Amino acid sequence: MAERYPAAHMNAFVIRGGGPLRGEVRVGGAKNSALKLLAAALLAPGRTVLRNVPDIADITTMTAVVEHLGCRVWRDGDRLTVEVPEEVGDETPAHLVGRLRASIIVLGPLLARRGRVRVATPGGCNLGNRAIDLHLSGLAQMGAEIIYGADHVEARVERLAGADIDLPFASVGATENILLAAVTAEGTTTVGNAAREPEIADLAALLSAMGADIHGAGTSEITVRGVGRLSPAHHTVLGDRIEAGTYAVAAAVTRGSVAVDGFDPAHLRLVLAKLRVVGARVDERPGGVTVSAEDGLRSADIVTLPYPGFPTDLQPQFLLLLTQAAGTSMLTENVFDGRFSIVDELVRLGADIAVEGHHAVVRGPRTLRGASVRAPDLRAGAALVLAGLVAEGETVVTDAAHVDRGYADIAARLRALGGDVRRIDVVATAV
Ligand code: EPZ
Repeated sequence: MAERYPAAHMNAFVIRGGGPLRGEVRVGGAKNSALKLLAAALLAPGRTVLRNVPDIADITTMTAVVEHLGCRVWRDGDRLTVEVPEEVGDETPAHLVGRLRASIIVLGPLLARRGRVRVATPGGCNLGNRAIDLHLSGLAQMGAEIIYGADHVEARVERLAGADIDLPFASVGATENILLAAVTAEGTTTVGNAAREPEIADLAALLSAMGADIHGAGTSEITVRGVGRLSPAHHTVLGDRIEAGTYAVAAAVTRGSVAVDGFDPAHLRLVLAKLRVVGARVDERPGGVTVSAEDGLRSADIVTLPYPGFPTDLQPQFLLLLTQAAGTSMLTENVFDGRFSIVDELVRLGADIAVEGHHAVVRGPRTLRGASVRAPDLRAGAALVLAGLVAEGETVVTDAAHVDRGYADIAARLRALGGDVRRIDVVATAV
């Protein structure tokens, strides 16, 4: 298979399909909250302390972003201390934003602190603007002047003013950027059709601990009354529901039994219900679940939607699961255009999946056979590692760095559950 990968640095997972996973795993703090909490710390000079921060690549990148803005950050286990100066920077460089689109979340805090911000917009200009147009229009409604450059965007404002903002789509990032701008704006801001993901409520909890006046976080109507100044605070990041859902699928797809702890099962209500529809047994308890399955998984239909709908970040993992279920399943992806990059890779392993627009039709069960596949992105990469656990023989998942962005020690954790998963890091040379 080497011919698919020209001479290059190849970091990969090597997995040998085997038996059921058994044991227990504890997930870390939510990546998609911790990244924003780091940005929120910029709002208050002094030391903010975050606990239960996952040790993953995206956090390393976001740490580099806030250090670039003048902060000092140090880690002690899962505690991250961010020391914010009286004056923070106002620019994030392309090489950091290119690695982490989510770093666009500094727009709100820097506009609030400095009155001006310049952020590189990764990828094509239109794509970049489209993916942040709701962020920018929200900030513009609060008085910011937006200037578009070929590869960056600038925003300027004397003083942010509260506004009544209705989001055409319940965008997670736009909701968060507006909250981060509104907490010290002049007057009151309301956000209609706000995202309701649990990570939004987690961000609001830190902001409130810092002195913000926020009501309705976690619902689709949020009200923020601007306050004069915020203070640093301490906060424990909520458990990562997507990491938890990934290990839950690993238990079901390998017909094993795994206790997954460190998160709130109430944040995975629909996902756990779907696992039961597919035929897994799911026992819930405070702080975790135990998921087990024998043979005889059944097909199911899945539609991804903003929370509390089925999370798009567990779509690739469920696509894999459905390849092992008897019957025909339909999975509809409504949140991201074309988030079916995993399909070609699963088909290489022997899956029967046909994509029609934003629908994927899966026929199963299909025996998967090990092959060399490529992780196209974070969640699809994690799903391909799980695919290797059920495929006969050896599966190599290259571009493994994608998976490191959101999963700490996934190879070690899967090995602890009985999976044959190794990580290799080689410089492949032309033969
Ligand atoms: C967050 O992305 C998460 N990332 C994503 O997780 C997650 O899939 C997504 O929310 C939905 O839950 C982080 O929190 C870092 P959106 P975000 O704004 O904020 C379009 C993972 O694997 N849109 O709700 O970017 C956008 O293109 C990642 O952990 C606009 O058009 O999600 C997409 O189609 C993947 N204009 C849809 O809305 C905008 O201004 C959802 O985007 C903003 C978004």
